[in-house]
Amino acid sequence: MSKITAQQLRTKYLEFFKSKGHTVIPSASLVPENDSSVLFTTAGMHPLVPYLLGQQHPGGKRVTNVQKCIRTGDIDEVGDNTHLTFFEMLGNWSFGDYFKKEAISWSFEFLTSKDGLNLPLERLAFSVFAGDQDAPRDEEAAGIWKSLGVKEERIAYLPKEDNWWIAGNTGPCGPDTEMFYWIDDGTPAPANFQETKEDKRWVEIWNDVFMQFEKQPDGKLVPLKQQNVDTGMGLDRTLAVLNGQKSVYDTEIFKPLFDVLSLGQEVMSNDEIRKARIILDHIRASVFIVADGVEPSNKDRGYVLRRLLRRSMVYGKLLNLQNHWLKALIGQVMAIYGDAYPGIVRDSNRIFEVIEAEQKKFGLTLEKGLKQLESRIKNQESGGLTGKEAFDLYQSFGFPWELTKEMAEAIGQKINKEEFETEFKKHQELSRTASAGQFKGGLGGNSEKIVKYHTATHLMNAALRQVLGEHVWQKGSNITEERTRFDFTHPQKMTEEEKLSVEALVNGWISQDLQVKKDIMPIEEARKLNAIGVFGEKYSDTVSVYTIADTNTGEVVSRELCGGPHVEHTGVIGKFKIQKEEASSAGIRRIKATIE
Ligand code: ALA
Repeated sequence: MSKITAQQLRTKYLEFFKSKGHTVIPSASLVPENDSSVLFTTAGMHPLVPYLLGQQHPGGKRVTNVQKCIRTGDIDEVGDNTHLTFFEMLGNWSFGDYFKKEAISWSFEFLTSKDGLNLPLERLAFSVFAGDQDAPRDEEAAGIWKSLGVKEERIAYLPKEDNWWIAGNTGPCGPDTEMFYWIDDGTPAPANFQETKEDKRWVEIWNDVFMQFEKQPDGKLVPLKQQNVDTGMGLDRTLAVLNGQKSVYDTEIFKPLFDVLSLGQEVMSNDEIRKARIILDHIRASVFIVADGVEPSNKDRGYVLRRLLRRSMVYGKLLNLQNHWLKALIGQVMAIYGDAYPGIVRDSNRIFEVIEAEQKKFGLTLEKGLKQLESRIKNQESGGLTGKEAFDLYQSFGFPWELTKEMAEAIGQKINKEEFETEFKKHQELSRTASAGQFKGGLGGNSEKIVKYHTATHLMNAALRQVLGEHVWQKGSNITEERTRFDFTHPQKMTEEEKLSVEALVNGWISQDLQVKKDIMPIEEARKLNAIGVFGEKYSDTVSVYTIADTNTGEVVSRELCGGPHVEHTGVIGKFKIQKEEASSAGIRRIKATIE
């Protein structure tokens, strides 16, 4: 039995600060509304920056909340005892109202009082800012802790790396004071904190930040108009600590998630536990990300979501989870969080749809790719998986390098990264020369028909990516007066329906008479615009990019790096038809298509 549940902790925290004159405000979205510098809300302070800078908050000068956060910087650590992608941060805020004295006194009261968390003082320790050219040693904070009964030796003075908070490189910031709890029931907490702070049994549970500066882009610290307080207490971590659990994955939040997979941690190997934790973490995060309106894609937030989902699907496969595990898990996340976050239940149909669509899309390639990967990894005689094979898996099945590496390592093999990278570069070079060669000497000699075929091929490429998925990449093309021949990555035969959909899309775009426009731009800009095609490694290169778009709606149908030439409007192309679809080599399909 847990001593305290997640909901009790949320309520206790909010009620406590309500009693100290704070307005309870709801969590903001995981997708930052006014801040393009971060993909996701990574701390409680993100959505509140304008109020730290002086704007008036409708809730007044004291607010308290539980903020949803996503941190993806430590994705490789997820699955250990402490790291999570999604978490909730409990916080109390002063916008130019109270400062160190009240913040520290209330933290102390909440941690130690009977109505609060009732933690014994002998298991608590505190750190404060040691001081440097920007701000003095925080004797004031230390003095307040001491006035409340904290012993001098339980206070450590630490430098900026530890006791200064800023989100990113610029913005509101200031010194902070952190609170630590000794988690080992069997051993008394060491008397001196400064000397023992590296001991993993001291776990940080809360941070009070005294925001009084703004860091400018040139690095200068400018005092803010007002002195603020920003505090953050991680819900999962505090819950584990309060209930005497070793890991954030042992809490009542994760227990029912493990149960859905029918995986009792007691009977699993450490490696299986790690994989299962990754699945649970990633799916929980994904449900919340989708709930806030993000869909899987190949860029920005959508890419993060796609990576989380695909990674959990690979691990699901490795743990041999059966058919409906994903659906059941999503349902359980909703059941656990439905009361605290009714939005994820209200929106449940869409969340299921979005995640399951991604599962379907990736499932096609996952099965085949894993088989290949496993058989090659296990083939010890041939020396296991080569860097080139890892590259092929990436190229044909969309297996990220990290994943292939991770799986090889799981059975004690190393893959040569240099070889992988060499292949990657070689491929880029090859396609580059090939596409350059394709147009060499052809520029003057291209007949009108061939030019039309070039543009039709771009439309077909775009349509294939829409119908089959973004794992489709051009592997080569050859155009004559009679037809276009196009090779692309896709693991299986296209169905009749898929072929018809591709034709319908291409013919639809032709009949819309879309504009075809050429721009010369730095390669970096082309990357930013998500142009597809072969990128060289030199960032200073300028490239020519062809964009096919609807000038009325601004909708971009296709954007490819290409030397041209192309027609100016798609209307002149004629009727597009797929004549043949066949295997070209492993994981590569070939289409021959005509225009009439
Ligand atoms: N902004 C502080 C943190 O995230 C409270 O730790």
